[in-house]
Amino acid sequence: GAPIEVDLTPIAEGQDIKVFWRGKPIYIMNRTKKQVEEARSVSLSALPDPQTDQDRTKEGYEQWLVVVGICTHLGCIPIAHEGLFDGFFCPCHGSQYDSSGRIRQGPAPANLPVPPYQFVSDTKIQIG
Ligand code: FES
Repeated sequence: GAPIEVDLTPIAEGQDIKVFWRGKPIYIMNRTKKQVEEARSVSLSALPDPQTDQDRTKEGYEQWLVVVGICTHLGCIPIAHEGLFDGFFCPCHGSQYDSSGRIRQGPAPANLPVPPYQFVSDTKIQIG
């Protein structure tokens, strides 16, 4: 599939949108300062699939989280802004993802993947 461009200006702080890329749902979340702080204050040893928030986001655009919205357990679509970690909750079997899309509790074995993307301007990303 071809890359897609997404305008971020309609996404207010604390909100997210879902777009489709290569047939997959992609969540784009404009995180609050609290969500960013939570994501960055976690010790890596507390994470089943250790990755820093810095590794999962772009420098200078810390508020933006872009993840594939497919649960790494059995493929359900997690719900944004739900669950115990201010991130995503999968209703199928209860996996809890944090505000960096990292698995924190439940049966999912891995973090929500970050798709290839880049900022083409301060308000636009290209995915793919
Ligand atoms: Fe998400 Fe099982 S598919 S917890």
